[in-house]
Amino acid sequence: MMGDKPDEGIAKCFSPHLGTYLLSHSVGLPLRDAEQAAAAAFWQPWQSGNRDIWSHWLKEIDGFRAQLATLLNGDLDSFCPQTSLSSAVAKIIDSLTLDKAKNTILLSEEDFPSIAFALQKAGAGGYRLKFIPAQADTSELNVWADHMTADVGMVLVTHVQSNNGRQLPVQKITELSRSKGIISLVDIAQSIAILPIDLQAWSADFVVGSCVKWVGGGPGAAFMWVRPEIIARCEPQNVGWFSHADPFEFDIHQFKYADNALRFWGGTPSVYPYVVAAHSLQFINSTGVDVIRAHNLLLCDKIIEALSPTQLVSPADVQSRSGTVIIHFGDHQETLVTRLQAQQVHFDSRAKGIRLSPHLCNSSQQIEALIGLLK
Ligand SMILES: Cc1ncc(COP(=O)(O)O)c(C=O)c1O
Repeated sequence: MMGDKPDEGIAKCFSPHLGTYLLSHSVGLPLRDAEQAAAAAFWQPWQSGNRDIWSHWLKEIDGFRAQLATLLNGDLDSFCPQTSLSSAVAKIIDSLTLDKAKNTILLSEEDFPSIAFALQKAGAGGYRLKFIPAQADTSELNVWADHMTADVGMVLVTHVQSNNGRQLPVQKITELSRSKGIISLVDIAQSIAILPIDLQAWSADFVVGSCVKWVGGGPGAAFMWVRPEIIARCEPQNVGWFSHADPFEFDIHQFKYADNALRFWGGTPSVYPYVVAAHSLQFINSTGVDVIRAHNLLLCDKIIEALSPTQLVSPADVQSRSGTVIIHFGDHQETLVTRLQAQQVHFDSRAKGIRLSPHLCNSSQQIEALIGLLK
């Protein structure tokens, strides 16, 4: 069990690295045995002489979907592998029939730019983006209610906004959008594996995410979740044989959409990223997000308690906090950056400040040493 004394057994699960690794909001640390586990899952058909390679690989990818279904409380059929969040978003927009009276997509200036770029260009540019200004408090439901005007047909909700480290009340926002007949699309890139997520409790229509950050599952294993009740309305334009109800039918004159989220898949998929990610997801599921979050909060609390309130940029309140603490030391910021770098603290720096994301690979001793450097 995690506590003030870090569980050394768990800490040893991660790849060795020099220094204090606090970059799980960017690229999470892989598991020590990731390469070995993925090699076994990927190369097995050749090593064993198995001639039915696709059956083996598709079973492995189903394993990835099943781990997601467990982690996020959704059913396997509603998950479709994707290469990145933005490409998933573009496919979603292109799958929907444009209603000219409701062609506004509501989002926030604090969302991740990649997603806004996809929203701008998809749908043959037929949508208008309406941004909630960066200064607004997006954790307030009233802010969303005020912006959900009659022309809004879709809303993008980023569960954790990476610029400010803020956690948004997704359930409330998606309930509100559902009550107004607005389609909701939720980005969980920064929250999967660090915040509890229950897709059955949300009223979301689409959810997009990836495994490169807190999951520690490497790049390339993104995914989308589609609410079962909306699948029949979606006609993806970017399709391939794996979007077909029976990919191995091979009748060139008959395309038939898969009746589940796999209609969003496409042509021959990559396999390797999903076997890497499935292994990490299995570790996250067997450890429990509640354990990961408790350890993260314990270490973040230590950092926050050592700061003056003006140095903390991300929220202090636990309900609004993500896994990332963002700090800014005003005129001393540059000096601090140099000092942390010199002591092998791995972090990044954005417009609002230094971002620090404690995960299971970090111990209390590491955080106490970090606090020593902040003083
Ligand atoms: C909130 C959020 N969404 C999306 C992404 C990445 O999107 P994509 O998979 O399109 O690169 C990031 C990456 O940092 C992010 O922080």
